[in-house]
Amino acid sequence: MNGSYNTLIAGVIGSGKSFCEKRIIDALISQGGNMYVLIDPKKVELHQYRNNVGVLQYADDEESIYEALCFVYELMQSRFDDMRANEQTVSTEPHVFVFVDEMAFLMQGSRKKEYVRMMSQVTLMGRAARIHLILCTQVATQDVIPACIRDNMTNIVCLRQRDAGKYRYLLGSFPGKLPMIGKAYVYTPMMCEPEKIDTEKVWEAINR
Ligand SMILES: Nc1ncnc2c1ncn2[C@@H]1O[C@H](COP(=O)(O)OP(=O)(O)OP(=O)(O)O)[C@@H](O)[C@H]1O
Ligand SMILES: [Mg+2]
Repeated sequence: MNGSYNTLIAGVIGSGKSFCEKRIIDALISQGGNMYVLIDPKKVELHQYRNNVGVLQYADDEESIYEALCFVYELMQSRFDDMRANEQTVSTEPHVFVFVDEMAFLMQGSRKKEYVRMMSQVTLMGRAARIHLILCTQVATQDVIPACIRDNMTNIVCLRQRDAGKYRYLLGSFPGKLPMIGKAYVYTPMMCEPEKIDTEKVWEAINR
């Protein structure tokens, strides 16, 4: 695995974001050897994974979420220090996948600016350090997913959106037909245009 796995999963309430996110976690767990940071503001979506092997942090309230994201940022910096000391350009440490079940929670509080700074830097530089963000959002607008984060997301998983503008913000165009439950428009660097894919198979498409 040497790809870039930063992924944005966006869709209205009940469109299947958490379902899709959990299928990705299941695929990573069955592959083995990965590490995870789970940010679960709703407290029930990722709770089932908190004791899994490789889970470095599970955070479900304001303070623990802040600590977990600072931990991720500092881990990235320390991996870069190690890489420089060892004259490596890519880390040989295990991949760390940071799942955020709902971005709006992070973007509403007083720490928004700091979160945007840390997360955009992780999306920019994390690949070499093998640290990847998988972000879920109900709302695909600039105030919840700033362009500096959106533009660094390698993979977009676009479930059902509220209006055509949201598809354009995510995919660059409105595909015309809305995806039904269980389907998403997925856009990865291996695709010329968004493809409609079963949400169960999103990780396969990202890893293609
Ligand atoms: N591919 C699928 N196959 C079968 N059921 C699905 C699929 N995707 C989602 N569902 C079901 O649809 C419902 C809503 O899915 P989910 O909770 O993932 O949506 P969500 O976008 O995370 O919602 P919320 O915005 O409330 O967090 C759940 O009951 C889930 O099991
Ligand atoms: Mg959900």
